[in-house]
Amino acid sequence: MPGAQAAGVPRHIAIVMDGNGRWAKARHRPRSFGHNAGRKAVRAVIEACMREGVQALTLFAFSSENWHRPQDEVGALMDLFLRALDREVEELHGHGVRLRFVGELDAFDQPLRRRMQASMTRTEGNDKLLVNIAVNYGGRWDIVRAARRAAEAVANGELRVDQIDESRLDQWTSLAELPPLDLFIRTGGEYRLSNFLLWQAAYAELYFTDTLWPDFDEACLRRAIEDYARRERRYGRTGEQVATNV
Ligand code: IPE
Ligand code: IPE
Ligand code: MG
Repeated sequence: MPGAQAAGVPRHIAIVMDGNGRWAKARHRPRSFGHNAGRKAVRAVIEACMREGVQALTLFAFSSENWHRPQDEVGALMDLFLRALDREVEELHGHGVRLRFVGELDAFDQPLRRRMQASMTRTEGNDKLLVNIAVNYGGRWDIVRAARRAAEAVANGELRVDQIDESRLDQWTSLAELPPLDLFIRTGGEYRLSNFLLWQAAYAELYFTDTLWPDFDEACLRRAIEDYARRERRYGRTGEQVATNV
């Protein structure tokens, strides 16, 4: 993981890419048109993160609850993921991006799973920027999975119950080995987490913008990073303690 980034630049950014449907509706187009338009924003944000020296970017592309959408929208999203994987992976690989999918991947059909796996294998040697795509992901699922692993370790006699603590459980969550989540961005004007990265967001700085995802660009990301750089992260301490570093 490259460590060179300017002070005030978040090491790890997560984005709830929201607002595609409303963007399309405003143009009297189907929701899938908005999802498709969102690809440009994904590209812009990846490029901007590389320029800024961000180490990891985690994008919420499909939540565990998004299966409840109309079938044709879910189908259109799956097609879009397939096409995006076919078209974009080589270019991302050329830029030194490492791609990873996080979430319950078993729910996807075989062709999509194969492509996800192939793109992860293809890019696993890259270290310019790690891009995690969260698909069929839910923050509660992530915590439950970690709890199950802990229970298994106890059942196998590898761990005692009193050895389960925050850092141990953290090791079994998604994104465990990455720098802590510094900046959590949500586009589209809603002020909620929608079950994204609940565990990891404990001390992330939250940034909400009304900009709809297809309109989000490099300037928008820079504004979010500038806002982040002005925050005082106190982690429960006082401002004076932080200022004097005691
Ligand atoms: C986010 O945009 C993309 C996904 C959830 C896949 P939406 O589709 O939720 O767009 P809005 O919120 O309806 O505008
Ligand atoms: C969250 O957006 C999921 C993604 C952006 C992938 P939603 O649009 O599904 O969230 P809610 O339903 O408004 O909470
Ligand atoms: Mg939405």
